[in-house]
Amino acid sequence: MALPVVVDAEYLKEIEKARRDLRALIANRNCAPIMLRLAWHDAGTYDAKTKTGGPNGSIRNEEEYSHGANNGLKKAIDFCEEVKEKHPKISYADLYQLAGVVAVEITGGPTVNFVPGRRDSKVCTRDGRLPDAKQGVSHLRDIFYRMGLTDKDIVALSGAHTLGRAHPDRSGFDGPWTEDPLKFDNSYFQILLEQDTAALLKLPTDRALLDDPEFRRYVELYAKDEDAFFQDYAESHKKLSELGFVPS
Ligand code: HEM
Repeated sequence: MALPVVVDAEYLKEIEKARRDLRALIANRNCAPIMLRLAWHDAGTYDAKTKTGGPNGSIRNEEEYSHGANNGLKKAIDFCEEVKEKHPKISYADLYQLAGVVAVEITGGPTVNFVPGRRDSKVCTRDGRLPDAKQGVSHLRDIFYRMGLTDKDIVALSGAHTLGRAHPDRSGFDGPWTEDPLKFDNSYFQILLEQDTAALLKLPTDRALLDDPEFRRYVELYAKDEDAFFQDYAESHKKLSELGFVPS
Protein backbone atom coordinates (compact mmCIF):
# COMPACT_ATOMS: atom_id res chain seq x y z
CA MET A 1 0.00 0.00 0.00
CA ALA A 2 1.18 3.50 -0.77
CA LEU A 3 1.94 5.56 2.31
CA PRO A 4 0.09 8.88 2.45
CA VAL A 5 2.10 12.08 2.23
CA VAL A 6 0.81 15.08 4.13
CA VAL A 7 1.98 18.24 2.43
CA ASP A 8 1.89 20.69 5.31
CA ALA A 9 4.09 23.71 6.05
CA GLU A 10 6.74 21.49 7.61
CA TYR A 11 6.86 19.20 4.58
CA LEU A 12 7.24 22.19 2.26
CA LYS A 13 10.11 23.46 4.40
CA GLU A 14 11.86 20.09 4.12
CA ILE A 15 11.38 20.18 0.34
CA GLU A 16 13.12 23.56 0.17
CA LYS A 17 16.00 22.27 2.32
CA ALA A 18 16.29 19.13 0.20
CA ARG A 19 16.31 21.29 -2.92
CA ARG A 20 19.32 23.18 -1.56
CA ASP A 21 21.09 19.96 -0.58
CA LEU A 22 20.43 18.51 -4.03
CA ARG A 23 21.85 21.63 -5.70
CA ALA A 24 25.07 21.27 -3.71
CA LEU A 25 25.32 17.51 -4.18
CA ILE A 26 24.70 17.67 -7.94
CA ALA A 27 27.22 20.51 -8.36
CA ASN A 28 29.87 18.72 -6.28
CA ARG A 29 29.55 15.36 -7.96
CA ASN A 30 28.78 16.60 -11.47
CA CYS A 31 25.95 14.11 -11.52
CA ALA A 32 23.09 16.12 -13.10
CA PRO A 33 22.69 13.73 -16.06
CA ILE A 34 22.27 10.55 -14.04
CA MET A 35 19.95 12.26 -11.54
CA LEU A 36 17.72 13.36 -14.42
CA ARG A 37 17.80 9.84 -15.85
CA LEU A 38 16.75 8.44 -12.45
CA ALA A 39 13.73 10.76 -12.29
CA TRP A 40 12.74 9.80 -15.84
CA HIS A 41 13.09 6.06 -15.25
CA ASP A 42 11.02 6.18 -12.06
CA ALA A 43 8.26 8.11 -13.86
CA GLY A 44 8.45 6.53 -17.32
CA THR A 45 6.99 3.18 -16.28
CA TYR A 46 3.52 4.73 -16.06
CA ASP A 47 0.60 3.03 -17.76
CA ALA A 48 -2.37 5.36 -18.08
CA LYS A 49 -4.90 2.53 -18.63
CA THR A 50 -4.10 0.50 -15.52
CA LYS A 51 -2.76 3.50 -13.56
CA THR A 52 0.32 1.47 -12.58
CA GLY A 53 3.97 2.51 -12.43
CA GLY A 54 4.88 6.19 -12.58
CA PRO A 55 6.82 8.50 -10.27
CA ASN A 56 6.28 6.50 -7.08
CA GLY A 57 9.82 5.79 -5.89
CA SER A 58 9.55 2.09 -6.80
CA ILE A 59 12.89 2.27 -8.62
CA ARG A 60 14.61 2.29 -5.20
CA ASN A 61 13.79 -1.43 -4.87
CA GLU A 62 16.39 -3.89 -6.15
CA GLU A 63 13.71 -5.69 -8.12
CA GLU A 64 13.30 -2.57 -10.30
CA TYR A 65 16.74 -0.97 -10.35
CA SER A 66 18.19 -4.29 -11.50
CA HIS A 67 16.13 -4.15 -14.72
CA GLY A 68 18.45 -3.93 -17.74
CA ALA A 69 16.98 -0.52 -18.64
CA ASN A 70 18.12 0.84 -15.26
CA ASN A 71 21.78 -0.19 -15.48
CA GLY A 72 23.95 2.32 -13.64
CA LEU A 73 21.10 4.07 -11.83
CA LYS A 74 21.94 2.57 -8.41
CA LYS A 75 24.60 5.28 -8.20
CA ALA A 76 21.95 8.01 -8.44
CA ILE A 77 19.71 6.16 -5.95
CA ASP A 78 22.63 6.17 -3.48
CA PHE A 79 23.23 9.90 -4.01
CA CYS A 80 19.56 10.56 -3.27
CA GLU A 81 19.77 8.38 -0.15
CA GLU A 82 22.25 10.89 1.31
CA VAL A 83 19.57 13.58 1.02
CA LYS A 84 16.81 11.24 2.25
CA GLU A 85 18.81 10.58 5.43
CA LYS A 86 18.80 14.29 6.20
CA HIS A 87 15.13 14.76 5.25
CA PRO A 88 13.41 11.44 6.04
CA LYS A 89 9.92 12.98 5.85
CA ILE A 90 10.19 13.46 2.09
CA SER A 91 8.91 10.55 0.01
CA TYR A 92 11.36 8.88 -2.35
CA ALA A 93 8.92 9.63 -5.14
CA ASP A 94 9.14 13.38 -4.45
CA LEU A 95 12.89 13.24 -3.85
CA TYR A 96 13.68 11.61 -7.20
CA GLN A 97 11.46 14.04 -9.11
CA LEU A 98 12.93 17.00 -7.22
CA ALA A 99 16.42 15.73 -8.14
CA GLY A 100 15.40 15.70 -11.82
CA VAL A 101 14.05 19.24 -11.65
CA VAL A 102 17.19 20.51 -9.87
CA ALA A 103 19.44 18.71 -12.39
CA VAL A 104 17.83 20.62 -15.26
CA GLU A 105 17.91 23.93 -13.39
CA ILE A 106 21.56 23.86 -12.30
CA THR A 107 22.86 22.94 -15.74
CA GLY A 108 21.24 26.04 -17.22
CA GLY A 109 17.90 24.60 -18.29
CA PRO A 110 14.39 25.91 -17.68
CA THR A 111 12.71 26.03 -14.28
CA VAL A 112 10.32 23.11 -14.01
CA ASN A 113 7.49 23.75 -11.58
CA PHE A 114 7.61 21.16 -8.80
CA VAL A 115 4.49 20.15 -6.88
CA PRO A 116 5.16 17.83 -3.90
CA GLY A 117 3.00 15.07 -2.42
CA ARG A 118 3.79 11.87 -4.36
CA ARG A 119 3.31 8.62 -2.48
CA ASP A 120 5.88 5.86 -2.37
CA SER A 121 5.04 2.43 -3.65
CA LYS A 122 6.82 -0.87 -3.19
CA VAL A 123 5.10 -2.35 -6.22
CA CYS A 124 7.57 -2.64 -9.10
CA THR A 125 6.52 -2.86 -12.71
CA ARG A 126 8.00 -5.53 -14.95
CA ASP A 127 11.04 -4.76 -17.10
CA GLY A 128 10.10 -3.56 -20.59
CA ARG A 129 8.03 -0.42 -19.95
CA LEU A 130 10.82 2.02 -20.82
CA PRO A 131 11.79 2.73 -24.44
CA ASP A 132 14.26 0.55 -26.32
CA ALA A 133 16.90 2.76 -27.95
CA LYS A 134 17.29 0.37 -30.88
CA GLN A 135 13.75 0.95 -32.14
CA GLY A 136 11.96 3.64 -34.14
CA VAL A 137 8.93 5.91 -34.54
CA SER A 138 6.09 3.47 -33.81
CA HIS A 139 7.81 2.10 -30.72
CA LEU A 140 8.35 5.63 -29.35
CA ARG A 141 4.64 6.36 -29.87
CA ASP A 142 3.59 3.05 -28.27
CA ILE A 143 5.65 3.74 -25.16
CA PHE A 144 4.90 7.43 -24.65
CA TYR A 145 1.20 7.22 -25.62
CA ARG A 146 0.88 4.42 -23.02
CA MET A 147 2.03 7.01 -20.46
CA GLY A 148 -0.57 9.45 -21.78
CA LEU A 149 2.04 11.73 -23.40
CA THR A 150 1.99 13.32 -26.87
CA ASP A 151 4.23 13.71 -29.95
CA LYS A 152 5.32 17.12 -28.67
CA ASP A 153 6.24 15.60 -25.29
CA ILE A 154 8.29 12.87 -27.04
CA VAL A 155 10.41 15.39 -28.93
CA ALA A 156 10.74 17.94 -26.13
CA LEU A 157 11.71 15.29 -23.56
CA SER A 158 14.20 13.69 -25.95
CA GLY A 159 15.99 17.04 -25.72
CA ALA A 160 17.11 15.91 -22.24
CA HIS A 161 19.87 14.11 -24.12
CA THR A 162 21.52 17.51 -24.21
CA LEU A 163 22.86 16.23 -20.86
CA GLY A 164 25.06 13.23 -20.20
CA ARG A 165 26.34 10.34 -22.20
CA ALA A 166 25.93 6.65 -22.89
CA HIS A 167 28.21 4.11 -21.27
CA PRO A 168 29.16 0.83 -23.01
CA ASP A 169 28.85 -1.14 -19.75
CA ARG A 170 25.33 0.23 -19.10
CA SER A 171 23.47 0.42 -22.39
CA GLY A 172 26.03 -0.81 -24.92
CA PHE A 173 26.07 2.67 -26.53
CA ASP A 174 28.94 5.07 -26.07
CA GLY A 175 29.54 8.81 -25.82
CA PRO A 176 27.72 12.13 -25.36
CA TRP A 177 25.08 13.62 -27.67
CA THR A 178 26.49 17.15 -27.44
CA GLU A 179 29.81 18.99 -27.12
CA ASP A 180 29.06 20.06 -23.53
CA PRO A 181 27.11 17.29 -21.76
CA LEU A 182 26.85 19.29 -18.54
CA LYS A 183 25.01 22.20 -20.17
CA PHE A 184 21.27 22.10 -20.76
CA ASP A 185 20.61 23.86 -24.08
CA ASN A 186 19.08 23.16 -27.51
CA SER A 187 22.29 21.82 -29.08
CA TYR A 188 20.90 18.25 -29.11
CA PHE A 189 18.41 19.34 -31.82
CA GLN A 190 20.96 21.33 -33.81
CA ILE A 191 23.37 18.36 -33.87
CA LEU A 192 20.56 15.94 -34.74
CA LEU A 193 19.94 17.98 -37.92
CA GLU A 194 23.64 18.10 -38.81
CA GLN A 195 25.76 15.47 -40.52
CA ASP A 196 27.06 12.74 -38.23
CA THR A 197 30.39 13.15 -36.50
CA ALA A 198 32.21 10.18 -35.02
CA ALA A 199 32.54 11.91 -31.66
CA LEU A 200 28.82 12.42 -30.93
CA LEU A 201 26.10 9.85 -30.33
CA LYS A 202 22.78 9.47 -32.13
CA LEU A 203 20.63 6.59 -30.93
CA PRO A 204 18.19 4.98 -33.36
CA THR A 205 15.38 6.57 -31.28
CA ASP A 206 17.05 10.00 -31.63
CA ARG A 207 17.26 9.57 -35.42
CA ALA A 208 13.62 8.48 -35.46
CA LEU A 209 12.68 12.07 -34.57
CA LEU A 210 13.78 13.05 -38.09
CA ASP A 211 11.85 10.24 -39.83
CA ASP A 212 8.35 11.34 -38.88
CA PRO A 213 7.02 14.70 -40.16
CA GLU A 214 5.17 15.52 -36.94
CA PHE A 215 8.28 14.82 -34.80
CA ARG A 216 10.57 16.59 -37.25
CA ARG A 217 8.50 19.76 -37.13
CA TYR A 218 9.37 20.08 -33.43
CA VAL A 219 13.05 19.15 -33.95
CA GLU A 220 13.37 21.98 -36.47
CA LEU A 221 11.56 24.44 -34.23
CA TYR A 222 13.64 23.60 -31.14
CA ALA A 223 16.92 23.72 -33.11
CA LYS A 224 16.29 27.31 -34.11
CA ASP A 225 14.33 28.58 -31.12
CA GLU A 226 15.77 27.70 -27.72
CA ASP A 227 13.06 29.63 -25.89
CA ALA A 228 10.37 27.49 -27.54
CA PHE A 229 12.31 24.37 -26.51
CA PHE A 230 12.69 25.54 -22.91
CA GLN A 231 9.02 26.41 -22.62
CA ASP A 232 7.80 23.10 -24.07
CA TYR A 233 10.43 21.09 -22.20
CA ALA A 234 9.38 22.60 -18.85
CA GLU A 235 5.74 21.69 -19.55
CA SER A 236 6.51 18.16 -20.72
CA HIS A 237 8.91 17.48 -17.85
CA LYS A 238 6.24 18.60 -15.36
CA LYS A 239 3.74 16.23 -16.99
CA LEU A 240 6.25 13.36 -16.85
CA SER A 241 7.00 14.07 -13.20
CA GLU A 242 3.27 14.00 -12.33
CA LEU A 243 2.05 10.94 -14.25
CA GLY A 244 -0.72 9.36 -12.19
CA PHE A 245 -0.25 11.93 -9.42
CA VAL A 246 -3.18 13.93 -8.15
CA PRO A 247 -1.85 16.75 -5.94
CA SER A 248 -3.78 17.04 -2.67
C1 HEM B 1 20.91 8.34 -21.26
C2 HEM B 1 17.78 5.97 -24.10
C3 HEM B 1 14.45 9.40 -23.33
C4 HEM B 1 17.40 11.45 -20.09
C5 HEM B 1 20.34 7.39 -22.08
C6 HEM B 1 21.02 6.23 -22.57
C7 HEM B 1 20.14 5.55 -23.37
C8 HEM B 1 18.91 6.31 -23.39
C9 HEM B 1 20.41 4.26 -24.14
C10 HEM B 1 22.45 5.82 -22.22
C11 HEM B 1 22.51 5.15 -20.85
C12 HEM B 1 23.93 4.79 -20.46
O1 HEM B 1 24.57 4.04 -21.20
O2 HEM B 1 24.38 5.26 -19.39
C13 HEM B 1 16.64 6.73 -24.18
C14 HEM B 1 15.53 6.45 -25.06
C15 HEM B 1 14.61 7.41 -24.88
C16 HEM B 1 15.13 8.32 -23.85
C17 HEM B 1 15.42 5.27 -26.01
C18 HEM B 1 13.31 7.57 -25.63
C19 HEM B 1 12.94 8.73 -26.12
C20 HEM B 1 14.92 10.17 -22.29
C21 HEM B 1 14.13 11.12 -21.55
C22 HEM B 1 14.96 11.70 -20.62
C23 HEM B 1 16.27 11.10 -20.80
C24 HEM B 1 12.63 11.36 -21.76
C25 HEM B 1 14.65 12.74 -19.59
C26 HEM B 1 13.62 13.57 -19.62
C27 HEM B 1 18.64 10.85 -20.24
C28 HEM B 1 19.85 11.36 -19.63
C29 HEM B 1 20.89 10.45 -19.96
C30 HEM B 1 20.26 9.43 -20.77
C31 HEM B 1 19.99 12.66 -18.83
C32 HEM B 1 22.37 10.54 -19.58
C33 HEM B 1 22.66 9.70 -18.35
C34 HEM B 1 24.12 9.73 -17.94
O3 HEM B 1 24.91 10.52 -18.44
O4 HEM B 1 24.46 8.92 -17.06
N1 HEM B 1 19.06 7.42 -22.60
N2 HEM B 1 16.37 7.87 -23.48
N3 HEM B 1 16.19 10.17 -21.79
N4 HEM B 1 18.90 9.71 -20.93
FE1 HEM B 1 17.68 8.83 -22.25
